[in-house]
Amino acid sequence: MSQLSDTLSNNHDKNIEELKELLRIPSISSSSEHKEDIQKAASWIAGKLKNIGMEHVEIIETKGHPIIYADWIHQENAPTVLVYGHYDVQPVDPIELWKTPPFEPDVRDEKIFARGATDDKGQMFLHIKAVETLMESEGKLPVNIKFCIEGEEEIGSPNLPAFLNENKEKLSCDVVLISDTDMWDKGVPAITCSLRGLCALEFTLKTANSDLHSGMFGGGVQNANHLLVQLLSTLHDSNGKVNVDHFYDDVQELTDLEKQQIEELGFDEEKLKQSLGLTDLTGGEQNYPYRERTSSRPTLEINGMWGGFQGEGTKTVIPNEAHAKITCRLVNNQNPKKIQESLKKHLEEHAPKGCTVKVTLQDTGYPFLTPIDSPMIQKAAEAYQNVYGNPPVYKREGGSIPIVTDFNQSLNAPVVLMGFGLPGENLHAPNEHFHLENFDMGILTICTFLELIHQ
Ligand code: BES
Ligand code: MN
Ligand code: MN
Repeated sequence: MSQLSDTLSNNHDKNIEELKELLRIPSISSSSEHKEDIQKAASWIAGKLKNIGMEHVEIIETKGHPIIYADWIHQENAPTVLVYGHYDVQPVDPIELWKTPPFEPDVRDEKIFARGATDDKGQMFLHIKAVETLMESEGKLPVNIKFCIEGEEEIGSPNLPAFLNENKEKLSCDVVLISDTDMWDKGVPAITCSLRGLCALEFTLKTANSDLHSGMFGGGVQNANHLLVQLLSTLHDSNGKVNVDHFYDDVQELTDLEKQQIEELGFDEEKLKQSLGLTDLTGGEQNYPYRERTSSRPTLEINGMWGGFQGEGTKTVIPNEAHAKITCRLVNNQNPKKIQESLKKHLEEHAPKGCTVKVTLQDTGYPFLTPIDSPMIQKAAEAYQNVYGNPPVYKREGGSIPIVTDFNQSLNAPVVLMGFGLPGENLHAPNEHFHLENFDMGILTICTFLELIHQ
C-alpha cells in the first residue's frame, strides 16, 4: 500500500491536470445547447478508459445522452465490481456568484473549484485513477471491473433503466461501487446506507380565457394567482406534515435504535444555521428532529411558482393562468408512481371553484436502503479504516441517485455508496469544489477495497 501511495503522490500533479481537462467540458445534461459537450465528455472518458488498460470500451448512444461501458475481466476466481458514476453536471446559474468561472477549474486552499468537481466528475475520476494506479504497479487488477458511466443522472436517468434491463448479463456483477455521496466530516468517512427517492410534477391552473383588466373585472372574477396560492396551501398542515391522502401509507417509522443512532452521531444545528444565514430550522414535520426530517422522512416541496405580471412597474391585471412545480423526496417503501398519482388526484380534487388544473407528471426514482452488515459494505468499511484511520459513519442521505435501486434489483447485487465528497462542497450551487485531501486518499481507499475483496 505504501508503494501505491508513493505512486499516487508522484503522479498527483499530473492527475489533477487530467481532471481539469474533464472539468473544462461543460457537459450540462439539461440543456440541448450542450449536446456536443456531452459527446465530448463521453469521448474523453472513453479515451481515458482505453489508456488505462480497460477493454471493450464502448460509447453507447441512447435516446438521450450516451452511456460509457468498459470492462477488464481476467480474474476467474475473483469477484466482479461494477463502477457507476455520471459525467453530466448541473447548470451553473447564478453565474455571477462564481469566484472563478465554472468551467475553468481553479485550485486554491487545497480545493479544486469547478462545476462537477465533487458531483460527480471528480469522484468518478477517482475510480479511473485507482484502476490506472493498480495497473501501473501490478500490471493487472485484483478483481474484475466493469464501468458504466452515464450522462443523464442530473435529469433523472431517463434512459438507464431500459439499458440495465436489456444488458443484465453484460452488467452482471458481485457489487456495484459508487462514489457520488459525502463523507461525514473532514477525516471521517461515511458509507451512505440510504438515499431518498423522488417524484416530480408540474401543473397549470386556468381561469378566464384571457387576462382581464383589474378595474373592470376586479371584485367580480377569480384571479389565477390567488387560486394557485389557495391550492398550494392545502398541501401541508400547520405542523408541516404533508396533507395528501395516502402520502404516508408506506412510510415506516425509524426504530428507537435507529433514532438513537442518529442522535448519537450528533449534529451542530447552531453552526448550520449560521452557515446558512438562518434564524431557525423549522421546515418540514415539526415533531421530528432536523437530522431525521432531512434524511429519513418524506417531503413535498414547491420548487417554483409563477403567474401574472413580473415586468417593471405596475400592471393592473387579473391573471388567468398560474403554474407551479413540485417535487417530493420519498423514503423506504414509498412508490414514486403511486405518490405522483395521489398528488395529482389531490390537486385536481382541491382545485378551487372557478378554475381548471392540468397536471403533467415528470421524473420518478425509487428510494434506496441497504443493510450495513453485508460483506461488501464491511470490506468498504475496512478499506476506509485502513486509509483514513477512522471507521466510517453509516449515513442516511437526503439526496437521491435514482438509478441505485434499479441496479440493486435488476442486477441482484449489493450497492456500496463509498463517498469522498465533504458536506459544504456546494454541489449544484456556485463555487462547487472538491477537497484535494480526499483525492489521493480516495484513490487509495478504492484500491484498498479492490484488494480486500480479491480473496
Ligand atoms: N450526487 C447527487 C446525490 C447526492 C446529493 C449525494 C447530496 C449526496 C448529497 C446526485 O447527483 C443528485 O444531485 N441527485 C439529484 C437527483 C435528481 C436530479 C433526479 C438530487 O438528489 O436532487
Ligand atoms: Mn451526483
Ligand atoms: Mn447532482
